[in-house]
Amino acid sequence: MGDAELSLLAAVVNASDDAIFSVDRDLNITSWNGSAVRIYGYTPDEIKGQPISVLIPVGRGDETSAIGQKLFGGESLVHYEFEHLRKDGARLQVSLTLSPIKDAAGVIAGVSIISRDITERKRADEERGRLITAIEQSAEVVIITNTKGEIEYVNPSFTRITGHRREDVIGLNANVQGSGKQDQAYYQQMWATILRGDIWHGEIVNRRKDGTLYTEEMNIAPVRDAQGAITHFIANKRDVTERKRIEDQFRQAQKMEAVGRLAGGIAHDFNNLLTVINGYSEMGLERLTAEDPLRHTLEQIHKAGERAVSLTRQLLAFSRQQTLAPRVLDLNAVVAGVETMLRRLVGEDIELTTVRDGALGHVKADPGQIEQVLMNLSVNARDAMPGAGKLSIETANVDFDDTHAKRHVAITPGRYVMLAVSDTGIGMDAETQSHIFEPFFTTKAKDKGTGLGLAMVYGFVKQAGGHIWVYSEPGQGTTVKIYLPRVADAVEPLPSVRTPVRTAAGSETVLLVEDDEAVRALASGILQQCGYKVLESTSPEDALQICERHEETIHLLLTDVVMPRISGPKTAQRMGALRPGMKVLYISGYTDDSAVRAGVVEGDAAFLQKPFTGTSLARAVREVLDQGSEPNS
Ligand SMILES: Nc1ncnc2c1ncn2[C@@H]1O[C@H](COP(=O)(O)OP(=O)(O)OP(=O)(O)O)[C@@H](O)[C@H]1O
Ligand SMILES: [Mg+2]
Repeated sequence: MGDAELSLLAAVVNASDDAIFSVDRDLNITSWNGSAVRIYGYTPDEIKGQPISVLIPVGRGDETSAIGQKLFGGESLVHYEFEHLRKDGARLQVSLTLSPIKDAAGVIAGVSIISRDITERKRADEERGRLITAIEQSAEVVIITNTKGEIEYVNPSFTRITGHRREDVIGLNANVQGSGKQDQAYYQQMWATILRGDIWHGEIVNRRKDGTLYTEEMNIAPVRDAQGAITHFIANKRDVTERKRIEDQFRQAQKMEAVGRLAGGIAHDFNNLLTVINGYSEMGLERLTAEDPLRHTLEQIHKAGERAVSLTRQLLAFSRQQTLAPRVLDLNAVVAGVETMLRRLVGEDIELTTVRDGALGHVKADPGQIEQVLMNLSVNARDAMPGAGKLSIETANVDFDDTHAKRHVAITPGRYVMLAVSDTGIGMDAETQSHIFEPFFTTKAKDKGTGLGLAMVYGFVKQAGGHIWVYSEPGQGTTVKIYLPRVADAVEPLPSVRTPVRTAAGSETVLLVEDDEAVRALASGILQQCGYKVLESTSPEDALQICERHEETIHLLLTDVVMPRISGPKTAQRMGALRPGMKVLYISGYTDDSAVRAGVVEGDAAFLQKPFTGTSLARAVREVLDQGSEPNS
């Protein structure tokens, strides 16, 4: 080799980006180029003469000697990736190329080593590997497309959620999943956003392989190359179908709550008005002779009033504010009790079957209300099956676990008794279903339905601490499932039949507390007509004073439950201390929480529901007065 060639080689070695050095037969370092200084941190003076082992991490010397043996044994070139140590102890990932150096006689005198620092590349590789694992493992769907929207990559979540296999969608346009639920303009706006280089965020309804629709929430971000040109789009999506369903349920529940409060408020005020309207028209009718020309007029008022009472009662039921008389009972017995009546109600063309679970648990509910529920549901079923069809009423024990509870906002896990009413009728679409519990929602002709049936059912179920679900498809019939909490108590026998009231009249003294002036005047009028002495008071405070001052016996306290400042039950309690023998009869069409908590509704307190009529008031007063004593004759 001439001098010129030697100096060329020296220049190449010195200019190389790789570390280039050599060892002799004893594996001591003999040369060391500039890049070796940069990469390893040793100057040539420091390293020359040192054994190569200074560069080798502890425990990896054997590998090095094995390679040395190969080279000295005649192998010409060895490539491998290894780990070296820098002077400061840091580890370097290196790619090594080793070849033997022969002297003039052709004897191997040493080994030349080219060492390329690949630490950074390795680190980047590992990082990429981790990122890929993250994307592959992610619960979110990741799709990468080219700028035309053709799919280049999907992660396993894509398959899990859409049902499409990866190999089937690569190369296809990302809109293969289109559901047609978004219009063209929606997609145009999306494309405009991402082509402009911005991130698009939105919700799209897509179609799974099996045809079902689902809603996904997604971000689509452009990916740019080094020059800033957009090369790909990455979409990140999550299936929010379930979340949206729960949100919908929640919104629905809130809506029902608000409508319920409104309806309850209206019904409460109407009750007072109706008590007066019906009471006076009744009193008026009693005084008119059969031929009186005014009789027809009053009868019409009375009839309309009665109809308004039944509407108001349903509204109260809907707003969960009606007075209930819950008892522990066997739903099967209630169903059996009304079966004949229901058969007549639905007519001969509809086949009614009942499937009763023999081991059915008990529930605590108002039996009259359950009968009402069965009637409303059966009438709805009948109306949905013009001509003919099948109506089935089923009872069963059902347990809800946490999974159920998670899927439904309203459900509390626990043991329930189910009452299901199914028909084979016309069914309902989703839009109709979302309104059925609203009071006055009806699809029926004006004289056919008021839209209060299901509102009543809903209110009853909620007030009883239960749940209601409706399953229906147009043309496929409808099933309404009601779940009432199961109780362990034994069935309560029906209260023994009370001694019939022979006459509703009497001469006792009644203390009447009612803040509504018209209602008070009416009640007082009715009672006086029946022969009672009536002490009227407008407020609990007023009544307490009368109670203290009145010198004779007061036989009965007749009080509204809900009054400003002091409730009826509180008033009764205070007076009970003054006059232990005094009986109490509550009037209200409205059981708000305070009344329930005070024990009025569920206790054995006597209760008269508003709006009352002359007869119902007179009867209730007589009954309470006669309780525990011989009926007056
Ligand atoms: N079994 C059913 N099949 C099909 N549609 C039903 C069924 N039950 C209820 N619906 C729909 O729900 C609406 C509301 O029912 P809901 O019982 O509250 O009122 P209604 O039957 O119209 O009137 P009302 O019960 O006050 O006489 C009905 O008008 C009907 O459109
Ligand atoms: Mg109905």
